[in-house]
Amino acid sequence: MDLRIKSYQEYQEKYQKSTEDPEGFWDDIAKQFVWQKPYDKVCEWEFETPDVKWFLNGQLNITENCLDRHLERRGNKLALIWEPNDPKEAFVRYTYRELHDKVCAFANGLKNKGIKKGDRVVIYMPMIPELTIAVLACARIGAVHSVVFAGFSANAMADRINDAQAKMVITADGLNRGTKQVPLKRVVNEALRACESVETVVVYNCINWSPEMIEGRDFWWNDVISGMSTVCPAEPMKSEDMLFILYTSGSTGKPKGVVHTCGGYMVYAAYSFQNVFQYTESDVYWCTADIGWITGHTYIVYGPMLSGATTMMFEGVPTYPDAGRFWQVCDKHGVNLFYTAPTAIRALMGHGDDHVLSYSLDSLKVLGTVGEPINEEAWNWYRVHVGKERCPIVDTWWQTETGGIMISGLGDLSPQKAAHAGYPLPGIQPVLLDQDGKEINENGVEGYLCIKHPWPSILRTTYGDHERCKNTYFSHYEGYYFTGDGAKRDENGMYRIIGRVDDVINVSGHRFGTAEIEDAINHNKMVVESAVVGYPHDVKGQGIYAYIVCENLPKDVELAKGEIIETVVERIGKIAKPEKIQFVSGLPKTRSGKIMRRILRKVAEGEPDKLGDTSTLLDPEVVEEIVEGAL
Ligand code: PRX
Repeated sequence: MDLRIKSYQEYQEKYQKSTEDPEGFWDDIAKQFVWQKPYDKVCEWEFETPDVKWFLNGQLNITENCLDRHLERRGNKLALIWEPNDPKEAFVRYTYRELHDKVCAFANGLKNKGIKKGDRVVIYMPMIPELTIAVLACARIGAVHSVVFAGFSANAMADRINDAQAKMVITADGLNRGTKQVPLKRVVNEALRACESVETVVVYNCINWSPEMIEGRDFWWNDVISGMSTVCPAEPMKSEDMLFILYTSGSTGKPKGVVHTCGGYMVYAAYSFQNVFQYTESDVYWCTADIGWITGHTYIVYGPMLSGATTMMFEGVPTYPDAGRFWQVCDKHGVNLFYTAPTAIRALMGHGDDHVLSYSLDSLKVLGTVGEPINEEAWNWYRVHVGKERCPIVDTWWQTETGGIMISGLGDLSPQKAAHAGYPLPGIQPVLLDQDGKEINENGVEGYLCIKHPWPSILRTTYGDHERCKNTYFSHYEGYYFTGDGAKRDENGMYRIIGRVDDVINVSGHRFGTAEIEDAINHNKMVVESAVVGYPHDVKGQGIYAYIVCENLPKDVELAKGEIIETVVERIGKIAKPEKIQFVSGLPKTRSGKIMRRILRKVAEGEPDKLGDTSTLLDPEVVEEIVEGAL
């Protein structure tokens, strides 16, 4: 299944066709997949409800496309290479045949434990091959997987389990991360005290710990697969049946469960993978993301495996045992296509060039970035030191909700410009809207980034709350999907993503809603009120700055800060720790009681002279105090 566009001219032609005849365009692509029953209509949609359907009445199983279809020609080809945290430990490699058998055996194990089509299964695991196996095994039997990143706390996991009403949790005793080990099963045990829906827990022995196991509920992975057949028929799924839920943060309230469905997601994952990375059959591909995020779903597991590629998984961190680890791994496994995050590039840049210069990196062909805007300095460092000025950089813009890459270069086909994501993929119709929701048609402009036609992997709903999906994405501008991002389009029509225009902070490529972090902080007993904003951070892109009102200003400020951080770690996880905490006696509010975040943002950004009009404030003195105490 070669879905690759092979020249820039072909890209332009395909792009044009995709806007003039979207159904014909996607039909040509979709029919190359294995369908148990062909679809009879390509797309039906309206953005008001919203109601979007792709490949109507088709029937498929994505794992047949990821595994079975490759067995004849690629049975002995490597599907997965796993590189452990500790470079002295042995790596693991599975061929497509081996992976198929492991997925089927585990799928049978899941069935044996009572999991059926439609049941939700939460997966909370280290970056080990069993995570991929668990994801595919769920898909095999039609269970809906919801992977929760293993850095989230027990509370955060419990929220997600309860929202999804998950019946099973798949986890491990613990995980390795650099020099540390983290007891995952202990976190699961704590979470499950607040979750009634979970009947069974499957635990993989990863670090040889002896966690508390609850009889009748908890089972070791090896016992679950023991004696299971490696034949497991792929459950017939309708195109619009749910494939997975992935929780992500928005500007309001608790994280929402973004829902992706089988047919459209499958088609777009493979199409975007092959085109963006200009993947060819013998390439070794490595995406350094965690499968707990959408990048790992689409571009470690599904996109590459649908394409019959060799995909890598890495258990560790970029700086262990030293800041050359990524490059050592690239040389060791002959990585051709490499995909990482700007925050990792910036962190490694900070460790000096020697770590990268000692590796040849000869095998690299295409470099990618994802998750946040990449600054020019990091882009250039990546191009010169990693890509040796030979490799194109694809700066890929997309979101959990879009399921796949939307705006990006296509390998070495497209023109490149530092810090610019570039042009939309075929089938993607971005527009920039002004304040009044009118399309800005010229180039050299800036506006709110929206998409005006559905693509196959657009989110279908937010789990259990369709109204929320409508309000978040489809109500701001009638007839458009609103991304929450602001963007510029240069004179040549290339897009540059500026960042979020809503109350979402992007820390090291991870999304947090300000409301979500405030809610966590407010759980601390001494806190009366808080407001959180993002500020520019050299490595993380954005850092979290929290303004906190306590009943009495704390006597020991450092101790109080430590306690607040502890509360956030408990409620969400270490990844959401505020970098800066300022105790204040009040927050700037309008007369109607709304917090003026604009002012707080300016102070956090170190621009207190640009506060703008503060005359409408309830209590202007508060601002003076905040400016004086700024960190
Ligand atoms: O603000 C954009 C930023 O990340 C957001 C999506 O976050 P998430 O759903 O967690 O998915 C991250 C991985 C796909 C977007 O709204 N973002 C993502 N990619 C880029 C980006 N900002 C600038 N440039 C990018 N390439």
